[in-house]
Amino acid sequence: MTEISNIKLNDYCEKINRALKEIVSERAPLRESLNEAMEYSLMAGGKRLRPVLMLEFCRMCGGDPESITDIACSIELIHTFSLIHDDLPSMDNDDYRRGRESCHKKFGEATALLAGDALNTLAFEVITNAATEGRISAQTAVMLVSVLSKAVGVNGMIGGQMIDLGAENREITIDELVILQRFKTGALIEAACVMGVILAGRFDMLPAAADYADALGRAFQIVDDILDVTGTFEELGKPIGSDSEQHKNTFVTALGIEGAHAEAERLTKTALLTLMQFDDCGFLSELTEELLDRRS
Ligand code: IPE
Ligand code: IPE
Ligand code: MG
Ligand code: MG
Ligand code: MG
Repeated sequence: MTEISNIKLNDYCEKINRALKEIVSERAPLRESLNEAMEYSLMAGGKRLRPVLMLEFCRMCGGDPESITDIACSIELIHTFSLIHDDLPSMDNDDYRRGRESCHKKFGEATALLAGDALNTLAFEVITNAATEGRISAQTAVMLVSVLSKAVGVNGMIGGQMIDLGAENREITIDELVILQRFKTGALIEAACVMGVILAGRFDMLPAAADYADALGRAFQIVDDILDVTGTFEELGKPIGSDSEQHKNTFVTALGIEGAHAEAERLTKTALLTLMQFDDCGFLSELTEELLDRRS
């Protein structure tokens, strides 16, 4: 990544982190530990990819990313909720996340469940607050809530997590694996991109954003599968070997490391081509390429 793109990424992340901190700063009486658990998982780091995508799609489509940082955070609230629940003993049973103990290890399972639930609803509160404060129109808020709720639910991330759990300990076809990953990971990545376009009001660009996100989302999860085998705990901040321990179906079990990498490379090229439909796509092109060879 060029120096300029790196600065831009850091700038986005700083703004996102500041806004996230503000969103979860509340300490409500008698349930302070719930607030603490939410903040603990949310502020533990993370690449902030999804909010960055939303801000950048908004910018590329002529919108003002400065004015929508809180809305971009809504997708990170959802993503963090998904990670907290993903790590639970009844799901992937992972003890570490983002370089620290998983939420349930630190606060107990019940609090982790509730922290995930509360982050889920908080995301929608953030979007609707922007409308009641007059910063986005009611119609825009409805469109954003519609996109995000679908991407989270049965036909999105949560549905994908269900397919993922149901595919443990049995073989599935590549086509099924693609559907699984499209749902559990692709749906939120697509929502991030599409919401950015909606915020800029460039509805003609929605299909292009969705196509880019589909290819990126698939490549992103394949690289995550690869890193579960080739990464280190220090790099990832989460346990390696989790997938094989849980007998998961991944692109590594289906195609091997090299085959999986070749597939991620192919999908990255597709994503890059699709991106060319957007003006001023240099930064996102660099980020897209960087994600293919990421180590965390
Ligand atoms: C991890 O997502 C879970 C997947 C959907 C692959 P990220 O790799 O974006 O995790 P953070 O946000 O950087 O911790
Ligand atoms: C997670 O997939 C997808 C989610 C919706 C959280 P993984 O289970 O592979 O994610 P990691 O590797 O634990 O981050
Ligand atoms: Mg999982
Ligand atoms: Mg997991
Ligand atoms: Mg993984």
